[in-house]
Amino acid sequence: MSDTPIQATLSLTERDGLPDALRSLIKAYPRNGWEQNANYSQLIAFWLDRHLMFRRLLDQLDTDVKAALDGNEAQDGYKRKLSRFGGMLINQLHGHHQIEDAQYFPVMTRLDTSVARGFDILDADHHSLDGILSDLANTANAVLQYQGKQPGFVDTAAAMKGRLDRFRPLLNRHLVDEEELVVPVLLKYDPPQFR
Ligand SMILES: [Fe+2]
Ligand SMILES: [Fe+2]
Repeated sequence: MSDTPIQATLSLTERDGLPDALRSLIKAYPRNGWEQNANYSQLIAFWLDRHLMFRRLLDQLDTDVKAALDGNEAQDGYKRKLSRFGGMLINQLHGHHQIEDAQYFPVMTRLDTSVARGFDILDADHHSLDGILSDLANTANAVLQYQGKQPGFVDTAAAMKGRLDRFRPLLNRHLVDEEELVVPVLLKYDPPQFR
């Protein structure tokens, strides 16, 4: 990773996609042709499947918090689901980011220096997401520790819904941009350690 900080306009909260200079590979390897490419590996499929799992966990958390807010799910039931699926999302995302930072990005940066800057952006995203996940965990813990009457419980659930609503577009931005850098690099160079 380079030591130069990324521009504020390319931060996770500000950008609405990768800059054009980093989009040459996704133009050469558009998403709708990935699975047909001869270099589409088991590892790519597995890695994309992890991203799908994160999106589904977020959908699940959203469905559950809506049920709690609507009074269709009792406090204990909602807490059990939030503890299970929220814990899974946060823990799995942390582990996923660690593997990407330690194993994926350093190799990919060397494979194609023309898009190396993109991996600095994604690395910076992981740092932003660390803070966001920590806020998400704190808000979830406030729900889990709440022991009072229903109106107060609804307030904690509403705070959770707000966190999830702010988190979703940021996570999605990161996942989409990451997929559009990582998969084309793997399809183009087919590195043996990532098959
Ligand atoms: Fe990532
Ligand atoms: Fe990822």
